[in-house]
Amino acid sequence: MEILDGKKVSNQIKEEITVEVAQMKKRGEKVPHLAAVLVGNDGASLTYVGSKVRSCKKIGFESTLIHLPEETTEDELLNRVRQLNNDPEIDGYIVQLPLPKHIDEEKVLMAVDPDKDVDGFHPTNFGKMALDMETFISATPFGIMELFKRYNVDTEGKHTVVIGRSHIVGRPISILMSQKGNPGNATVTLAHSRTKNLKELTLQADIIISALGVPKFLKADMVKEGVTVIDVGITRVPDETREKGYYITGDVDYEKVKEKASYITPVPGGVGPMTIAMLLKNTLLARERHTSKN
Ligand code: GUN
Repeated sequence: MEILDGKKVSNQIKEEITVEVAQMKKRGEKVPHLAAVLVGNDGASLTYVGSKVRSCKKIGFESTLIHLPEETTEDELLNRVRQLNNDPEIDGYIVQLPLPKHIDEEKVLMAVDPDKDVDGFHPTNFGKMALDMETFISATPFGIMELFKRYNVDTEGKHTVVIGRSHIVGRPISILMSQKGNPGNATVTLAHSRTKNLKELTLQADIIISALGVPKFLKADMVKEGVTVIDVGITRVPDETREKGYYITGDVDYEKVKEKASYITPVPGGVGPMTIAMLLKNTLLARERHTSKN
Protein backbone atom coordinates (compact mmCIF):
# COMPACT_ATOMS: atom_id res chain seq x y z
CA MET A 1 0.00 0.00 0.00
CA GLU A 2 1.27 3.43 -0.89
CA ILE A 3 -0.10 6.63 0.61
CA LEU A 4 -0.81 9.34 -1.96
CA ASP A 5 0.76 12.12 0.07
CA GLY A 6 -1.04 15.29 -0.97
CA LYS A 7 0.82 17.35 1.57
CA LYS A 8 4.19 16.36 0.13
CA VAL A 9 3.15 16.75 -3.52
CA SER A 10 1.44 20.07 -2.89
CA ASN A 11 4.65 21.35 -1.28
CA GLN A 12 6.60 20.25 -4.36
CA ILE A 13 4.14 22.10 -6.62
CA LYS A 14 4.34 25.20 -4.44
CA GLU A 15 8.14 25.08 -4.62
CA GLU A 16 7.97 24.83 -8.41
CA ILE A 17 5.64 27.84 -8.54
CA THR A 18 7.89 29.79 -6.13
CA VAL A 19 10.79 29.35 -8.57
CA GLU A 20 8.65 30.61 -11.46
CA VAL A 21 7.45 33.63 -9.50
CA ALA A 22 11.03 34.52 -8.53
CA GLN A 23 11.95 34.41 -12.23
CA MET A 24 8.99 36.64 -13.11
CA LYS A 25 10.15 39.14 -10.51
CA LYS A 26 13.70 39.02 -11.84
CA ARG A 27 12.41 39.82 -15.32
CA GLY A 28 10.58 42.80 -13.85
CA GLU A 29 7.16 41.27 -14.56
CA LYS A 30 4.08 41.63 -12.44
CA VAL A 31 3.61 38.66 -10.10
CA PRO A 32 0.29 36.72 -10.02
CA HIS A 33 -2.42 38.28 -7.88
CA LEU A 34 -5.24 36.12 -6.48
CA ALA A 35 -8.29 37.55 -4.77
CA ALA A 36 -10.75 35.60 -2.66
CA VAL A 37 -14.26 36.74 -1.82
CA LEU A 38 -15.80 35.33 1.34
CA VAL A 39 -19.33 36.18 2.40
CA GLY A 40 -20.24 35.47 6.02
CA ASN A 41 -18.43 33.58 8.74
CA ASP A 42 -18.74 29.87 7.99
CA GLY A 43 -15.96 28.23 10.03
CA ALA A 44 -14.73 25.83 7.34
CA SER A 45 -14.79 28.53 4.64
CA LEU A 46 -12.81 30.91 6.89
CA THR A 47 -10.18 28.19 7.34
CA TYR A 48 -9.97 27.37 3.62
CA VAL A 49 -9.80 30.98 2.48
CA GLY A 50 -7.24 31.83 5.18
CA SER A 51 -5.12 28.93 4.01
CA LYS A 52 -5.36 30.02 0.35
CA VAL A 53 -4.28 33.58 1.20
CA ARG A 54 -1.40 32.37 3.42
CA SER A 55 -0.17 30.07 0.64
CA CYS A 56 -0.11 33.03 -1.78
CA LYS A 57 2.14 34.99 0.57
CA LYS A 58 4.50 32.03 0.99
CA ILE A 59 5.08 31.54 -2.73
CA GLY A 60 5.41 35.22 -3.61
CA PHE A 61 1.95 35.92 -5.08
CA GLU A 62 0.00 39.04 -4.29
CA SER A 63 -3.31 38.27 -2.58
CA THR A 64 -6.41 40.15 -1.53
CA LEU A 65 -9.08 38.86 0.82
CA ILE A 66 -12.47 40.49 0.46
CA HIS A 67 -14.46 39.50 3.52
CA LEU A 68 -18.08 40.65 3.31
CA PRO A 69 -20.73 40.41 6.01
CA GLU A 70 -23.39 37.68 6.00
CA GLU A 71 -26.08 40.30 5.20
CA THR A 72 -24.40 41.33 1.93
CA THR A 73 -27.06 41.47 -0.78
CA GLU A 74 -26.84 39.67 -4.10
CA ASP A 75 -26.53 43.03 -5.90
CA GLU A 76 -23.69 44.13 -3.63
CA LEU A 77 -21.84 40.91 -4.28
CA LEU A 78 -22.44 41.15 -8.02
CA ASN A 79 -20.98 44.66 -7.91
CA ARG A 80 -17.85 43.39 -6.17
CA VAL A 81 -17.55 40.67 -8.79
CA ARG A 82 -17.77 43.27 -11.59
CA GLN A 83 -15.11 45.39 -9.86
CA LEU A 84 -12.80 42.37 -9.76
CA ASN A 85 -13.50 41.64 -13.43
CA ASN A 86 -12.47 45.19 -14.31
CA ASP A 87 -9.46 45.44 -11.99
CA PRO A 88 -6.29 44.95 -14.07
CA GLU A 89 -4.30 44.21 -10.89
CA ILE A 90 -6.26 41.00 -10.26
CA ASP A 91 -5.27 37.98 -12.38
CA GLY A 92 -7.70 35.53 -10.90
CA TYR A 93 -10.23 35.30 -8.11
CA ILE A 94 -12.57 32.93 -6.38
CA VAL A 95 -15.90 33.39 -4.67
CA GLN A 96 -15.82 30.93 -1.80
CA LEU A 97 -18.80 28.57 -1.67
CA PRO A 98 -21.25 28.01 -0.12
CA LEU A 99 -22.80 31.48 -0.29
CA PRO A 100 -25.52 32.54 2.16
CA LYS A 101 -28.96 31.19 1.18
CA HIS A 102 -30.34 34.58 0.06
CA ILE A 103 -27.75 34.80 -2.72
CA ASP A 104 -28.19 32.93 -6.01
CA GLU A 105 -24.90 31.07 -6.40
CA GLU A 106 -25.43 30.40 -10.08
CA LYS A 107 -26.00 34.07 -10.83
CA VAL A 108 -22.78 35.01 -9.06
CA LEU A 109 -20.66 32.33 -10.71
CA MET A 110 -22.06 33.32 -14.12
CA ALA A 111 -20.90 36.90 -13.50
CA VAL A 112 -17.24 35.94 -13.02
CA ASP A 113 -15.05 36.77 -16.03
CA PRO A 114 -14.07 33.32 -17.42
CA ASP A 115 -10.51 34.61 -17.95
CA LYS A 116 -10.21 35.26 -14.20
CA ASP A 117 -12.20 32.19 -13.09
CA VAL A 118 -9.34 30.26 -11.49
CA ASP A 119 -11.92 27.99 -9.83
CA GLY A 120 -13.04 26.80 -13.27
CA PHE A 121 -16.69 27.04 -12.20
CA HIS A 122 -17.99 29.28 -15.02
CA PRO A 123 -19.98 27.35 -17.66
CA THR A 124 -17.50 28.49 -20.33
CA ASN A 125 -14.61 26.89 -18.46
CA PHE A 126 -16.57 23.82 -17.40
CA GLY A 127 -17.69 23.37 -21.03
CA LYS A 128 -14.13 23.72 -22.33
CA MET A 129 -12.94 21.18 -19.79
CA ALA A 130 -15.65 18.74 -20.94
CA LEU A 131 -14.53 19.25 -24.56
CA ASP A 132 -10.82 18.63 -23.81
CA MET A 133 -9.98 22.27 -24.51
CA GLU A 134 -7.31 24.11 -22.57
CA THR A 135 -8.89 25.97 -19.65
CA PHE A 136 -8.95 26.39 -15.88
CA ILE A 137 -9.76 23.00 -14.39
CA SER A 138 -11.40 23.15 -10.95
CA ALA A 139 -8.82 22.79 -8.24
CA THR A 140 -10.08 19.60 -6.57
CA PRO A 141 -10.44 17.43 -9.69
CA PHE A 142 -7.23 18.98 -11.07
CA GLY A 143 -5.47 18.02 -7.82
CA ILE A 144 -6.69 14.43 -8.01
CA MET A 145 -5.45 14.11 -11.62
CA GLU A 146 -2.10 15.59 -10.58
CA LEU A 147 -1.76 13.05 -7.73
CA PHE A 148 -2.36 10.20 -10.22
CA LYS A 149 0.24 11.72 -12.53
CA ARG A 150 2.95 12.27 -9.95
CA TYR A 151 2.54 8.80 -8.42
CA ASN A 152 2.25 7.14 -11.85
CA VAL A 153 -1.06 5.53 -10.91
CA ASP A 154 -2.25 3.63 -13.95
CA THR A 155 -5.83 4.65 -14.73
CA GLU A 156 -6.09 3.28 -18.27
CA GLY A 157 -9.10 1.02 -18.72
CA LYS A 158 -9.63 0.97 -14.97
CA HIS A 159 -13.16 0.85 -13.65
CA THR A 160 -13.50 4.07 -11.68
CA VAL A 161 -16.48 4.59 -9.42
CA VAL A 162 -17.05 8.22 -8.48
CA ILE A 163 -19.40 8.71 -5.53
CA GLY A 164 -21.17 12.08 -5.61
CA ARG A 165 -22.25 14.22 -8.57
CA SER A 166 -21.48 17.73 -7.30
CA HIS A 167 -20.60 20.40 -9.85
CA ILE A 168 -17.32 21.04 -8.01
CA VAL A 169 -15.95 17.50 -7.73
CA GLY A 170 -17.99 14.44 -8.75
CA ARG A 171 -19.23 15.63 -12.13
CA PRO A 172 -15.92 17.13 -13.35
CA ILE A 173 -13.70 14.29 -12.09
CA SER A 174 -15.95 11.74 -13.83
CA ILE A 175 -15.42 13.66 -17.10
CA LEU A 176 -11.66 14.03 -16.63
CA MET A 177 -11.16 10.35 -15.76
CA SER A 178 -12.97 9.29 -18.93
CA GLN A 179 -11.05 11.68 -21.19
CA LYS A 180 -8.42 10.42 -23.59
CA GLY A 181 -5.00 10.65 -22.00
CA ASN A 182 -2.91 9.68 -19.06
CA PRO A 183 -4.19 9.98 -16.41
CA GLY A 184 -7.56 9.28 -17.93
CA ASN A 185 -8.83 6.57 -20.29
CA ALA A 186 -10.78 5.09 -17.38
CA THR A 187 -14.20 3.46 -17.56
CA VAL A 188 -16.29 5.62 -15.27
CA THR A 189 -19.42 5.01 -13.23
CA LEU A 190 -20.87 8.09 -11.57
CA ALA A 191 -22.79 7.04 -8.48
CA HIS A 192 -25.00 9.33 -6.39
CA SER A 193 -27.76 9.39 -3.80
CA ARG A 194 -30.23 7.60 -6.13
CA THR A 195 -27.80 4.85 -7.12
CA LYS A 196 -29.04 1.37 -6.31
CA ASN A 197 -26.67 -1.30 -4.99
CA LEU A 198 -23.70 1.01 -4.58
CA LYS A 199 -21.75 -1.75 -2.83
CA GLU A 200 -22.00 -3.97 -5.92
CA LEU A 201 -20.39 -1.18 -7.91
CA THR A 202 -17.67 -0.29 -5.42
CA LEU A 203 -16.75 -3.97 -5.09
CA GLN A 204 -16.00 -4.01 -8.83
CA ALA A 205 -14.05 -0.76 -8.77
CA ASP A 206 -10.32 -0.51 -9.46
CA ILE A 207 -10.45 3.13 -8.43
CA ILE A 208 -12.94 4.77 -6.04
CA ILE A 209 -13.21 8.56 -5.77
CA SER A 210 -15.52 9.47 -2.92
CA ALA A 211 -16.87 13.02 -2.72
CA LEU A 212 -19.86 12.52 -0.50
CA GLY A 213 -19.21 14.24 2.82
CA VAL A 214 -20.39 11.36 5.00
CA PRO A 215 -17.78 10.40 7.62
CA LYS A 216 -16.34 6.89 7.23
CA PHE A 217 -18.99 5.93 4.66
CA LEU A 218 -16.74 3.67 2.57
CA LYS A 219 -16.04 0.52 4.60
CA ALA A 220 -13.50 -2.23 3.98
CA ASP A 221 -16.24 -4.72 2.97
CA MET A 222 -17.23 -2.38 0.11
CA VAL A 223 -13.86 -2.52 -1.70
CA LYS A 224 -11.80 -5.18 -3.42
CA GLU A 225 -8.15 -6.03 -2.77
CA GLY A 226 -5.76 -3.71 -4.59
CA VAL A 227 -8.21 -0.82 -4.97
CA THR A 228 -7.05 2.79 -5.31
CA VAL A 229 -9.04 5.10 -3.03
CA ILE A 230 -9.29 8.88 -3.31
CA ASP A 231 -11.08 10.46 -0.36
CA VAL A 232 -12.42 13.94 -1.11
CA GLY A 233 -14.61 14.14 2.00
CA ILE A 234 -13.62 16.62 4.68
CA THR A 235 -16.15 16.64 7.51
CA ARG A 236 -15.80 18.36 10.87
CA VAL A 237 -17.08 15.98 13.53
CA PRO A 238 -17.88 17.72 16.85
CA ASP A 239 -15.61 16.47 19.66
CA GLU A 240 -15.33 18.37 22.92
CA THR A 241 -12.15 16.56 23.92
CA ARG A 242 -10.29 18.34 21.08
CA GLU A 243 -8.92 21.83 21.41
CA LYS A 244 -10.81 23.05 18.35
CA GLY A 245 -14.02 21.31 19.41
CA TYR A 246 -14.02 19.02 16.37
CA TYR A 247 -11.88 16.64 14.37
CA ILE A 248 -11.60 16.24 10.62
CA THR A 249 -12.50 13.00 8.93
CA GLY A 250 -13.00 11.77 5.38
CA ASP A 251 -15.57 9.58 3.60
CA VAL A 252 -13.38 6.52 4.01
CA ASP A 253 -12.91 4.18 6.97
CA TYR A 254 -9.19 4.77 6.42
CA GLU A 255 -7.57 2.43 8.95
CA LYS A 256 -9.47 -0.62 7.66
CA VAL A 257 -9.71 0.26 3.95
CA LYS A 258 -5.96 0.97 3.72
CA GLU A 259 -5.27 -2.71 4.51
CA LYS A 260 -6.86 -3.66 1.15
CA ALA A 261 -5.74 -0.69 -0.95
CA SER A 262 -2.78 -0.31 -3.32
CA TYR A 263 -3.01 3.48 -3.12
CA ILE A 264 -4.99 5.66 -0.74
CA THR A 265 -5.23 9.35 0.19
CA PRO A 266 -5.36 10.26 3.90
CA VAL A 267 -7.62 12.94 5.41
CA PRO A 268 -6.22 15.38 6.30
CA GLY A 269 -3.12 15.53 4.08
CA GLY A 270 -4.50 14.06 0.86
CA VAL A 271 -6.73 15.85 -1.61
CA GLY A 272 -7.16 18.99 0.57
CA PRO A 273 -3.64 20.43 0.21
CA MET A 274 -3.65 19.52 -3.50
CA THR A 275 -6.69 21.72 -4.00
CA ILE A 276 -4.81 24.77 -2.77
CA ALA A 277 -1.73 23.97 -4.85
CA MET A 278 -3.82 23.66 -8.03
CA LEU A 279 -5.63 26.92 -7.35
CA LEU A 280 -2.21 28.59 -7.19
CA LYS A 281 -1.22 26.82 -10.40
CA ASN A 282 -4.37 28.17 -12.11
CA THR A 283 -3.56 31.67 -10.87
CA LEU A 284 -0.06 31.40 -12.33
CA LEU A 285 -1.64 30.27 -15.63
CA ALA A 286 -4.03 33.23 -15.51
CA ARG A 287 -1.10 35.62 -15.04
CA GLU A 288 0.81 34.03 -17.93
CA ARG A 289 -2.25 34.26 -20.20
CA HIS A 290 -2.81 37.91 -19.30
CA THR A 291 0.87 38.68 -19.99
CA SER A 292 0.76 37.01 -23.40
CA LYS A 293 -2.46 38.92 -24.28
CA ASN A 294 -1.06 42.36 -23.43
N1 GUN B 1 -16.01 25.49 -1.46
C1 GUN B 1 -15.54 24.22 -1.35
N2 GUN B 1 -14.59 23.99 -2.27
C2 GUN B 1 -14.44 25.13 -2.96
C3 GUN B 1 -13.59 25.52 -4.04
O1 GUN B 1 -12.78 24.75 -4.57
N3 GUN B 1 -13.74 26.79 -4.48
C4 GUN B 1 -14.63 27.66 -3.93
N4 GUN B 1 -14.71 28.87 -4.44
N5 GUN B 1 -15.43 27.33 -2.94
C5 GUN B 1 -15.33 26.07 -2.46
